[in-house]
This record gives sequence, C-alpha cells and structure tokens, in this order.
Amino acid sequence: MNTVQENITQNKDRYLEELLELLKIPSISADSAYAGDVRKTAEYLSEKLSAAGADNVKIYETPGHPVLYGEKILGDKFPTVLVYGHYDVQPPDPLELWDAPPFEPIIKKTDRHPLGAIYARGACDDKGQMYMHFKAFEAMMQTDSLPCNVKFMLEGEEEIGSANLEGFCKKYADMLACDVVLLSDTSVIANDIPSITTGLRGLSYLEVEVVGANKDLHSGVYGGAVANPLNILSKMIATLKDEDNHIAIPGFYDDVETVTDAERTEMNKAPFSLDDYKKFLEIEEIEGEMGYTTLERTSIRPTLDVNGMWGGYIGEGAKTVLPSKAQAKISMRLVPNQDPEKITKLFTEYFTSLAPPSVKVTVKPHHGGYPAVTPTDTLEYKAAHMAMEKTYGKPPIPQRSGGSIPIVSMFEEVFGVKSVLLGFGLATDDIHSPNEHFGLFNFYKGIETIPYFYQYYAELKQSS
Ligand code: BES
Ligand code: MN
Ligand code: MN
Repeated sequence: MNTVQENITQNKDRYLEELLELLKIPSISADSAYAGDVRKTAEYLSEKLSAAGADNVKIYETPGHPVLYGEKILGDKFPTVLVYGHYDVQPPDPLELWDAPPFEPIIKKTDRHPLGAIYARGACDDKGQMYMHFKAFEAMMQTDSLPCNVKFMLEGEEEIGSANLEGFCKKYADMLACDVVLLSDTSVIANDIPSITTGLRGLSYLEVEVVGANKDLHSGVYGGAVANPLNILSKMIATLKDEDNHIAIPGFYDDVETVTDAERTEMNKAPFSLDDYKKFLEIEEIEGEMGYTTLERTSIRPTLDVNGMWGGYIGEGAKTVLPSKAQAKISMRLVPNQDPEKITKLFTEYFTSLAPPSVKVTVKPHHGGYPAVTPTDTLEYKAAHMAMEKTYGKPPIPQRSGGSIPIVSMFEEVFGVKSVLLGFGLATDDIHSPNEHFGLFNFYKGIETIPYFYQYYAELKQSS
C-alpha cells in the first residue's frame, strides 16, 4: 500500500478540482439573500466528508446557518482531535475591484506564488484551509494510517460572530469531547519561514449614531447655527486617540497584559521587512502607537479603528445639506486579559460623555470576542512544531496574530482544551479584500503537513 504522502501526490489534481467547485458556491453568511447558498455549501461538504470516510455525517440546524459534523472514531485508546473550520465567507464587495468574479475561481501565477494561486472569495479564509483537512483525512483513511479519533465541526457563521456555535458546543458537548482542537484559519510568516500562531486578539465592535436636528436642513439657511452631526462625530472620533496614538478611553489599558522586555525582544527577532511591508501597501510611512514596533502593534497591543462612517449626501455632484444624522462602525482589537464586555462599557461611557448637548448619541454593541493565547509547552504544540519542521525543512517560529477567532477562547471554556492554530495562508493573501487568493504551494503544504501532526500527536500522547 502507498504511504499517505504518496497518496497525496497522486491525488493533487482532484483536490484542486474539488476546492474550485467549493469556491463557486457564494456562502456569504452576512447576507440573508445567500442563506440557500450557505446551506448548499454545507451539503456539498457533507458529501465530501462522507466520501472521505467519515461516519455520522450530519447537518445540524441552528437558529442561524447550519453546522456540519462528521467523525471517525477508532476507539478509546486513541487521542481525539476536533477539527474546526468555517465554510462561510465575507461579502465580496466592492465587486468592481476584483480582477475576475469572486465566485468564479481562477488560477494565476505571481511573483509571490510562482506555482500559482487560486483567486476567489474564501480561497484562503477559510474554505481552502478547511478543505486541506478533508483531503488530509481522506488520504489517511485511504492508506489506513489514521492514528487518532477525528471529529469535524464546520460552521457557517464565523464571519458574522459565531452567535450559535457556543450553544451548539454546549448542547453536543458529549459528541464533541476531544483532547485538542485543530484549525487552519491563520497564516505563516512566508512560504520559506514557517510559523505557528500562538495568540489571537479579541474584539469589541460597536455602531454609533449622532443625531442633531429632526431632519436634513439647508446648509445655508441653518448652517452655522445648528449642530452638524458629521462635524461632531468626526471631532468625537478624533478625541478617541492622542497624538501618540494611545487610546484615550479612561481605563482602556487597565487590564492589558504586560509583556516582559525579554518577550518583546524575542518576538521582534521574527523576520520582518518594513520596506517590503510598505511596498506591499504602497505607503510612504507607517503609523501606530508610539513606543512599539509594527510586529508588536499588530499582536500584543490593542487598537481602535473606524470601519465605516456615513451620513449626509454621498451621491454624485454637490448637495448643500446639513445632515440630521451621522453614523460610524468602530472596532477595537483586544489583547490578553482585556474583557470585550468591559471595554464596550468603557467605550460607551466615554463616547457618550464626549457629546455636546446639541446632539443625541447612541452606541449599539455588535458582536465581540475574547482574545486567546496558546501555550508552546503542550504535546499538541510540539506535534504541530514537528510536523511543520518535517514538511518545511526548518522549525516554525511561534508568533501571535492580530486577527480574531473568538471561538478559540470559547472552546477552552466549554471543552477545557487548547487549540492548535496550524494556518498555511499568507498575510498578503488579501483575505476580506478584493482578489483574495490562496497559493497552491500553501494548499498542498497544508495537506502534506496535517497527517504528520496526527502521527506525532498520537506518538507523543502514547509516550506521555
Ligand atoms: N480567519 C480570520 C481571522 C484571522 C485572519 C486570524 C488572519 C489570523 C490571521 C477570521 O475568519 C476572521 O476574519 N475573524 C474576524 C472576527 C470575526 C468575529 C468576524 C476578524 O478577525 O476580523
Ligand atoms: Mn477565517
Ligand atoms: Mn475571516
């Protein structure tokens, strides 16, 4: 019989064809018009999971989009890995900025991806990365080399805050019992610099509204005498950070975990080129919190950003109007020890206090999430480290990420287990942006690495 790696080599073309089919289904969770496509994606995946050799494959209903589950149980004496992934994607807008339609995947060679990259919404986040696990599992099944119990849990609501996943995990806690959660929804530093994500930031997301007069007004007749909500909102937002880009909300930093100088020195040893960074983004200069490096600003420090701001007239030409209303979506990325609920409260109190009596302000919280850190002294981390070292030919670097996957801290709370963030994307893959893509090198490297994780994890567990 073939080895698992030989089996993978023989089936690469088929893996790609199946992924391209998966990417054609527009599983946009945020837009209810696509709810049918989200379900279709779960159905497509359920067929593939069964075909790969999983048992008890079933689509579970939730109050929102469904969860797909499937498992292969070998027996009590084997450790159990719970694979998590999300099959929903971000909306592709703005469509006009895509070089090709977002749900008609194409493969293109670029300098960064000389073997080619798949361009489509969800190619990297997270359909492509999730599908690596399907194929690695299939290859282990076909070569009779699966060394662990495996459970797959795939959700369709990650991009909108996973509102129903905690309920699902609690309801089916027995079915989902595991020793570790394994997910690929993060990135490596570069294709020749493997890394393992050891931290994720939390999130507090809010929408604010500033209202002045009861209707839009003529800006000549009333302008200068009645509050302009857009002017006021801009001023309030400008007050949220000082000249050093420190967040000015009282108490905001109170719980921020202090990272020792030694740890900071260590994390700044990770390969990083500020020149390449600026070139990629076509910017002359970077900007961020005084006293911290770019690597620190995007991992161990919290942030505050306006995600969108609107009001008044934004159509073609000019309209002289004094708007009645101004709105903005604001998010804060949080670091270990910060509590999203507490931060939301601090923001609301401070933001409301900034409003002059000429306007009314409301703050509406959206979803949030807790930060997470994963230790590097566990068997699962060691197994991931060994697996990457095997397939990349060099040891991976532990690195905290700036992104958020709120369910990682939820898994720890509900199941009492840690996660392994074994991601294979690149920070330059334009996830959530136009022209999202995923390198073929990355897709195949993931499929090749995952079976080693299972093998090493089973061996380490056995000898522990
Ligand atoms: N896969 C991303 C998170 C991510 C990206 C982590 C890159 C590390 C590196 C995930 O799908 C995502 O987009 N999360 C959201 C939060 C969620 C609550 C909508 C995020 O980070 O904005
Ligand atoms: Mn993701
Ligand atoms: Mn995402």
